[in-house]
Amino acid sequence: MLQNKIQDYSTEVENIHLDTAEQVEAFRLRFLVNKGIIRSLFEEFKTVSQEEKRILGKVLNEFKQLAEEKFKVAQERIGLSNTDEKSANLADLSLPGEGFNLGSRHPLSLVRKEIVEIFKKLGFIVAEGPEIEDDWHNFSALNFPPEHPARDMQDTFFIKKQEGNDIALRTHTSSVQVRMMEKGQPPFRAIMPGRVYRNEAISARAHCFFHQVEGLYVDEGVSFADLKQTLFHFVQELYGAETKVRFRPSYFPFTEPSAEMDISCTICGGTGCAMCKHTGWVEILGCGMVDPNVLENCGIDSKKYTGFAFGMGIERITNLKYEIKDLRLFSENDVRFLKQFETEII
Ligand code: DAH
Repeated sequence: MLQNKIQDYSTEVENIHLDTAEQVEAFRLRFLVNKGIIRSLFEEFKTVSQEEKRILGKVLNEFKQLAEEKFKVAQERIGLSNTDEKSANLADLSLPGEGFNLGSRHPLSLVRKEIVEIFKKLGFIVAEGPEIEDDWHNFSALNFPPEHPARDMQDTFFIKKQEGNDIALRTHTSSVQVRMMEKGQPPFRAIMPGRVYRNEAISARAHCFFHQVEGLYVDEGVSFADLKQTLFHFVQELYGAETKVRFRPSYFPFTEPSAEMDISCTICGGTGCAMCKHTGWVEILGCGMVDPNVLENCGIDSKKYTGFAFGMGIERITNLKYEIKDLRLFSENDVRFLKQFETEII
């Protein structure tokens, strides 16, 4: 009779000792699995009369709860949290664990660090400024007259039109020069790394944001010879002693005279290749003597002090170092690209 069977099994469950993992597992296999006792009792329950069902349904459910509770309590007591027999029995604690993937520094961070280190050894400090700038710091103080076409040299992302002093994303790190000079008096010897923004269509050769390092040296008696020697030293440190430099006259509103500096092509060494468009030279930065107007705009006596400034794109320097041909790679976060560079624990 079903009722007697339930009674007997209930007594068994109540009295059974579940002290080891094996006993718990044996209990589970006997009572709780698909082909176990509880399931078979339910099968049998289907065959009894309606009358009996009314009484036995409750008894059978109580028995089921009793067995499940017994199992759960025993399992928790001996620390088996998983009912899955495979993981209970097969966890091999002697297997080696899964290793962590080490990150790597972004190539632009590596090169920025290298640039900073070279200038630090020459006594330059590192300065920073905001990425959201006003017209004064990004343009006017740097000798870009209002409405002057030189402002179109850089396509600007404007944030807010404000009578006489628009707010924009800085188009170059030259704005940090202004902030620095406004705050004190020479000597200034600083480099200013940072992100800049231009309203350009994104392609392999242009991006709407990139990174620059600005340099500024203002003191009494600073000359173009100082500028040349400093930048020559920088290039030799960064690209090697065999690297040559040349200066070409150029124009920037904030420097006079202004120049662009080329280096002998780092890829072909000057014999001509696709990177240098078969000229043997590649441009790496703009520079010049700080225009006296800029010094005066920042409250510095241009009769007493002179200075030089320069600005370079970190992406460009990096491309030449690692032969990267597509600017978009820098911001796509593709780990296959990123992990090719130095691996370090950060
Ligand atoms: N600000 C210039 C640019 O973004 C780069 C530059 C040129 C910076 C000459 C300078 C400089 O400080 O002297 O194109």
